[in-house]
Amino acid sequence: MRLKNCHNYHDFRKLAQKKLPSPIFNYIDGAADDEITYKRNTDAFSEVDLIPNVLAGVAQVDMSTTIFGKKIDMPLYCAPTALQRLFHFEGERAVAKAAEKFGTMFGVSSLGTVSVEEIDSLISTPKLFQFYFHKDRGLNSNMLARAREANFDVLALTVDTITGGNRERDLRTGFTIPPKLTVAGFLSFLTNPMWGINYVTKPKFELPHLKDHVVAGTSAVTSIGEYFSEMLDQSMSWDDAEKLCSEWGGHFALKGVMSVEDAKRAIDIGCTGIMVSNHGGRQLDGSCAPFDQLSDIVDAVGDKIDVICEGGIQRGTHVLKALASGAKACSGGRLYLYALAGAGQLGVERALGNLRTEIERDMKLMGCKSISELNRSHLRFRGK
Ligand code: LAC
Repeated sequence: MRLKNCHNYHDFRKLAQKKLPSPIFNYIDGAADDEITYKRNTDAFSEVDLIPNVLAGVAQVDMSTTIFGKKIDMPLYCAPTALQRLFHFEGERAVAKAAEKFGTMFGVSSLGTVSVEEIDSLISTPKLFQFYFHKDRGLNSNMLARAREANFDVLALTVDTITGGNRERDLRTGFTIPPKLTVAGFLSFLTNPMWGINYVTKPKFELPHLKDHVVAGTSAVTSIGEYFSEMLDQSMSWDDAEKLCSEWGGHFALKGVMSVEDAKRAIDIGCTGIMVSNHGGRQLDGSCAPFDQLSDIVDAVGDKIDVICEGGIQRGTHVLKALASGAKACSGGRLYLYALAGAGQLGVERALGNLRTEIERDMKLMGCKSISELNRSHLRFRGK
């Protein structure tokens, strides 16, 4: 598998599998328990069919949308994901630059491996900072201040990682941060020499938002599950979220809302958006897919806050189905992470480019010149 032969999500996934040591590939590729929700996230889109209109004069198509008060050139952005330096030596730099090229938003994780300051100096397109609420309040204040200073447009508080999900692939491979050579993983690292050479010779792995506060990213080895369960504050409540929202004072979102009740409450505490998301199926297996909940959530809050559909998106048609349901935009992680692992910035550009081409083609085939023309009349739910 080579980059020029990557035409879809599955092709990039194969490329990443070829390039990465298996513990790292499985960290991206895996999810919780039996991975049923992970699969369901994409399958949900197949239960709704698109109804196109014709003769609509679609020579010019405008796929821009406005989220959190910022116009983005395509209705899909790069969701914040952790540890990108592990996947490719360019890490977040590659994803940020590719997102900028497509005029879309880039999300940086609290567990990002390139600092918010550096990202600010690299791109001028909208940026989101994903916030984990730690027990260490000093760390929380420091991250908030840094994201503000670095001109981040949106703060998104992740609310679906109150404890670590049961990621059995990581338990089997012994995936840790930073990576530690286990006997089982050793062979796999040996069979991927380029990854190893780049890991050792290119900029060092670090967690710049955490490094002055916690041991992860310096010397101690930890797992993502331990990080969530030990370092994040399980007593986090609506009051804490409300306080954080007012301290931030700008566009604020809850990432990982799945119920109508919580979506309504997000408005009460001052959120300007929510990500309907189950963390890519990596937390609560057996929970429903974002797309399955989307219409009800949009009906309840869609006229007051921006609703983003996140999870399972692999195709332009998935984006159109979410937008026709009333989402303002979509976002995804694996859809660009496999490409990052496979080919760095060029890979991410190709992944975003493929999706952009699909969205444009699909809008034309749907008879839609702009995102605002998409609505529920374009959808037929199977069995209804
Ligand atoms: C994960 C976190 C770090 O899902 O977002 O692994």
